Amino acid sequence: MDRNLDGLRHRLFLALGLVAGTTLGSSCLDTAPIDECFDVADEEYDDEVEVFTLDVGQYGECPSERHRSVKEAAQDYADSCMAGGAKLRYVACGPLEDRADYFGTCEYVAVFDKPVDLDQCVSIGRPFLVHAAPRLASAYARSDWALDRAIERPADERLAARLAAHWTAIALAEHASVAAFARFALQLMSIAAPPELLRACQAAMVDETRHAQLAFGLASRFGDAPVGPGPLELDGALADPSIEAILRDVVLEGCFGETRAAAEARAAASACEQPEVRAVLERIAEDEERHAALAWRFVGWLLAHRPALAPAFERAIGQGLVAAFERETEDDLEGGRAWGLLDRSARRRIDAQTRASIVAPLARALMARFAKPWTELARDRVA
Ligand SMILES: [Fe+2]
Ligand SMILES: [Fe+2]
Repeated sequence: MDRNLDGLRHRLFLALGLVAGTTLGSSCLDTAPIDECFDVADEEYDDEVEVFTLDVGQYGECPSERHRSVKEAAQDYADSCMAGGAKLRYVACGPLEDRADYFGTCEYVAVFDKPVDLDQCVSIGRPFLVHAAPRLASAYARSDWALDRAIERPADERLAARLAAHWTAIALAEHASVAAFARFALQLMSIAAPPELLRACQAAMVDETRHAQLAFGLASRFGDAPVGPGPLELDGALADPSIEAILRDVVLEGCFGETRAAAEARAAASACEQPEVRAVLERIAEDEERHAALAWRFVGWLLAHRPALAPAFERAIGQGLVAAFERETEDDLEGGRAWGLLDRSARRRIDAQTRASIVAPLARALMARFAKPWTELARDRVA
């Protein structure tokens, strides 16, 4: 795991008062074998290589990569989110461990006949999920959302157009994040959460509004025309007021979405050579990390007070571990990294490592600290 991700994991564990790798008395998930396999497959096939998971139930036996269920899970992965009809060539390697982890998932690497287009899946930042699908406004020609910054445009017009599209997509995702936190504030109040969480939620709404303005500013500059958001549809956003739905929203939007957003923004900032863009990415990375910590703190608070929600937490984590995250589907552009564009393989790697090396160990540590294991819960019920 690279230094950025390692640092993010360390800080999130600290935010929960936990120490990575020691809470359960066993080491965190080791991703090295999957990484090596990914590298070998990636060298040959590049964009057609994906990490996917098979759900076999808690501590269940992970079948070999040749088993039919593994091949079916690989194809299901490519078929998820209307992913563009990619067909499985073969499962390259796996499983990572002989047995599934606490959340019942086994990891494998597969090669497909063309890139898996997961454009319809969850996008960068804290997604605003309604009926499990990200809800976004459309882009409108307007100038009042764009924070104007004196910034040079690349000489290459193709790169400028790509940057304009990239920052418009980010801006719309950040704009939707404001709605996600607005809903979270209402949800916090509905379950009598402490003021510390509500204040942090309100501060996060301010952060996300600023992110959207910064991103619309860059999109307007690179596109040479003002761009901002249109109306955001809200119907169905509060359709399920149950505490399980609140927990699921926070896990998927915050624990997964914000953790990954922080890691991706930090990686993009590290490679970016343009000082203004780099400053925006660093600002976003710092804030998203705080938002991720808020999501994890909320889950910690909820499980400490309502340990009976452990199965719902486990289900939400399992759902997030098998979900695929992707945003752009266009080819990588030469010189893009220097302007803050991550290439597809880097984003895939960050996604896989964030889920396996940060989210899964944090979730396990929380379960170990705040909730009784399944067997103990069952024993209590019998007693
Ligand atoms: Fe954000
Ligand atoms: Fe955020």
